[in-house]
Amino acid sequence: MWPYPGIIAHRGGGTLAPENTLAAMRCGVQHGFRAVEFDVMLSADNVPILMHDPVFGRTIKGTGNVSDATAGELTRMDAGAWFGVQFAGECVPTFEEAVHYCKKHHIWMNVEIKPAPGFDVQTGRVVAEIARRLFAAEIASGAPAAALPLFSSFSFDALAAARDAAAEIPRGYLVDAIPADWRQKLQALDAIALHTNHKKLSADQAREIKGQGFGLFCYTVNDPGRAREILSWGVDAFCTDRIDVIGPQFS
Ligand code: G3P
Ligand code: MG
Repeated sequence: MWPYPGIIAHRGGGTLAPENTLAAMRCGVQHGFRAVEFDVMLSADNVPILMHDPVFGRTIKGTGNVSDATAGELTRMDAGAWFGVQFAGECVPTFEEAVHYCKKHHIWMNVEIKPAPGFDVQTGRVVAEIARRLFAAEIASGAPAAALPLFSSFSFDALAAARDAAAEIPRGYLVDAIPADWRQKLQALDAIALHTNHKKLSADQAREIKGQGFGLFCYTVNDPGRAREILSWGVDAFCTDRIDVIGPQFS
């Protein structure tokens, strides 16, 4: 059985706040969410920070690679102004800051490991090592599954490195369309779930994955009708940008 929440705020606060910021998570909390997905990338000095794009220009002003900036530089950058003046000055959080915020507010985390190109293994390893330290008490006490985050990644190598560094923290393998060898990939990663694009998922595929005993997570579902449809197929969970339309108790 899926031990985690079923409806998850994508990138913190979906369309209501600047993605991958603490302001986004505050917005999710204000909408009743206690489950979040966010993206984690490494800085030049190996500090995981919350970031989706590997290059500047969309959410952060400037040009060049995120992986060339240090954590000190990144955490001073404005990650909110692009979204609206009321968010100006909202900074890039470190992964560690995000975990502290989520723990304090009892928010469950789907941590998407998002390596910049060429940094797959390093990103998976560093993120997992830090998570292992931050959740050491939960791991040692055998706390319920939902007390730990769920890692996910499109990068097989990043997830394999996360498994090697912190096997106790569960993994979901992220794909766009479901590949023919999905089951072998999940088994190789010792992953508990497949995370897939709902637009490319069929009812038959959903039944097959569930029938094989794996969790099934979809991204990013913004239409209530479609959400009901995939839930009827046995999908365990999905993330949404429309936290104003699809609430945490949606069914
Ligand atoms: O983790 C699900 C989803 O966030 C994957 O796509 O590009 O929004 O990170 P993306
Ligand atoms: Mg993501």
